[in-house]
Amino acid sequence: MRRARATAHSNIALVKYWGKRPDSDPALNLPAVGSLSMTLDELRTVTTIGPGDHDHFALDGARVDAQSPVARKVFAQLDRIWTESHDGPRPGCEVESVNHLPTAAGLASSASGFAALTLAAAGAFESELELPRLSGLARQGSGSAARSLWGGFVRLDAGTAADGNDCIARPLLPADHWDLRLLIVHAAKGPKSVGSTEGMERSRTTSPYYAPWVETSPQDLDAGEKALRARDLEALGAVMEHSCFKMHACMMASVPPLVYWRGTTLEVMHELWAARKSGLQGYATSDAGPHVKVLVSAAQAEALGERLAAVPGVTGLQSVAPGPDATLELLDEAAT
Ligand code: PMV
Repeated sequence: MRRARATAHSNIALVKYWGKRPDSDPALNLPAVGSLSMTLDELRTVTTIGPGDHDHFALDGARVDAQSPVARKVFAQLDRIWTESHDGPRPGCEVESVNHLPTAAGLASSASGFAALTLAAAGAFESELELPRLSGLARQGSGSAARSLWGGFVRLDAGTAADGNDCIARPLLPADHWDLRLLIVHAAKGPKSVGSTEGMERSRTTSPYYAPWVETSPQDLDAGEKALRARDLEALGAVMEHSCFKMHACMMASVPPLVYWRGTTLEVMHELWAARKSGLQGYATSDAGPHVKVLVSAAQAEALGERLAAVPGVTGLQSVAPGPDATLELLDEAAT
């Protein structure tokens, strides 16, 4: 094996994914619905993999206990990539990941984290796997990671194949297709209350709104893609907010309820809608956490950002442009 370093950028789902396909192998991590995303500049993970005596994993410069759930997920991902193109036992690996993300969410929930890990491992193991296959493998680590191998705007279809071979992301449009910004409005500090895998399963098994959420997703995906291609912010924003609110309604109606929002989350949304009436055209989305992410044209990003940053309770705001493809560097040819 050789040393390799990959950089992958985070992404935001404009049309959301929530829920796994029932009766499928949990290890395949197959989503029940597709998703449509924008890759984010600046927010990225850089992962370097080289040979080691044993498996070691360091995150943001600190060694992570090899038995911890995060480290186990990392090593399991390496096993997947190794067995795709090699027989026999996988060599020990030194894995170092550095997150350039606004919140220290950790690797387990990071789209950029699993995308960078997957690409770096393919490079380190000299696997000649094509990007679509790597997207499927990244998905097994984290659903949203399948989308982070490409820049710009990306679609991940749920697919129908039992082995998940058609559940891979594909790039729709490059980053320079549209000069948009995503304002990340921080509405609270601290880790998220319930992780996405557990939350999705709770919604699937208890929420009366889960079935309609799954049924109505394909039309949102098609409408979102159409609006994106036409650079129609009003149409894209409408689909984006509808997808986000349907997902959160489904979450909230789970038993026990999944309420990821805080008071500040809603105050930011009300301010956003008030700003829209005065001509600042921004649209909200939010994931399994309290922060509000607002899509807006580059021209209006600063004015809208100032307004949202002034909402009481907001702890920070970051403006991010559409980001580039993931990249791979081969550092040397060190043989094991
Ligand atoms: O990547 P996961 O499996 O943690 O799921 C992410 C789910 C959402 O962020 C809520 C929506 C999405 O499509 O990214």
